[in-house]
Amino acid sequence: MVDEMVELMLTTNPGVEDLLAEEVSLRLKARIIEVKQNRGRIFADVSEDYLYALNYLRCMNKAYLVLTKSRICPEYNCLKEIYELIHSIPIHEYTSRLDKFAVRVERVGNHEYSSLDIARVAGDAVKDSVRSRRGFDLHVDLDYPSLVVAVDVIEDNITVLLELGEFSRHQRGYRIYDHPAALSPVLAYAMLILSGVQDGEQVLDPMCGGGTIAIEAALLLENSEIHCMDKSARHIDGAEMNAKAALVHNRIRFLVGDATSLSDYFKEIDIITTNPPYGIRLGKPSLVKQLYYKFVLSLEKIVKKRVTVITTEHKFFEEQLMRIGWRIIHNRRVMHGNLYPYIIVAEPA
Ligand SMILES: C[S@@+](CC[C@H](N)C(=O)[O-])C[C@H]1O[C@@H](n2cnc3c(N)ncnc32)[C@H](O)[C@@H]1O
Repeated sequence: MVDEMVELMLTTNPGVEDLLAEEVSLRLKARIIEVKQNRGRIFADVSEDYLYALNYLRCMNKAYLVLTKSRICPEYNCLKEIYELIHSIPIHEYTSRLDKFAVRVERVGNHEYSSLDIARVAGDAVKDSVRSRRGFDLHVDLDYPSLVVAVDVIEDNITVLLELGEFSRHQRGYRIYDHPAALSPVLAYAMLILSGVQDGEQVLDPMCGGGTIAIEAALLLENSEIHCMDKSARHIDGAEMNAKAALVHNRIRFLVGDATSLSDYFKEIDIITTNPPYGIRLGKPSLVKQLYYKFVLSLEKIVKKRVTVITTEHKFFEEQLMRIGWRIIHNRRVMHGNLYPYIIVAEPA
């Protein structure tokens, strides 16, 4: 039997597209067609037999089936071409009478038409196409659609996609306690991969907040000792709740403690992976500098292998690591919400 191949567009946080591409090649046996660096997108050909494995990707936000790709001109009358293109797609094969649909548009570049214009003609094309081929009217529901057609018009390229699954996979479902500065689980997972952690090595997040990094570590590693520490007892209670929801509660040790005196709690740790405060909420940049300064002096006493940190204050953090003679072995800029922090990986020289 010949494998049926489909083209997918998968999204992630800008800055970690390469890690998603690696995961997709490995788990879905996919052929990567294109990695849109810093755009948070990759395109890949996948056999239909492996689509079930989309559920296991940890570096992905959303998955889309590519329905068609084409060129598009910028003039107002080119909206007609968008209508024709979408009308020609067999969207009726993916719909039932019970479906309610929405069109979501992303437009980048100079065009005489707006995103709203694209949404209007795309919506008409979907309705007309389904009516003519299936004989029923597909209703619109912008709030709770069961079918989402995404139209990306980026400069002179148009891609029409079908969203696979309603929720972004960064919403893992275990966030019972919502830490006010929670890290995206996609970035927590990416940090663990970049740290080079091996199963069996001890992992500590000494400023673990709601526990995202520790929980992702417990989901990734079967035999590692994992510690989740924070100075706030309230956050540690929250982290425990989240870990219970993720069914990894028994794999993590939770403790209240101070990341600036780590040797009071630990003799040795292989890997620290952490998301310290960036100072934005603290209001005073000097406070975060003090914290980083003391944290780096403290981690030097206990860390055997590597430390991985995500922060917007990356220059200062790197300076502190270099001051104690550590080597920065990797750094990269990523996007988190509307901020651009860096992930830094360092090891003793
Ligand atoms: C950005 S948040 C971490 C969020 C976490 N990654 C999550 O996803 O929920 C930073 C955390 O560092 C903690 N923190 C700040 N200073 C600390 C210190 N000296 N020792 C331990 N924890 C500290 C704060 O209480 C806060 O929960």
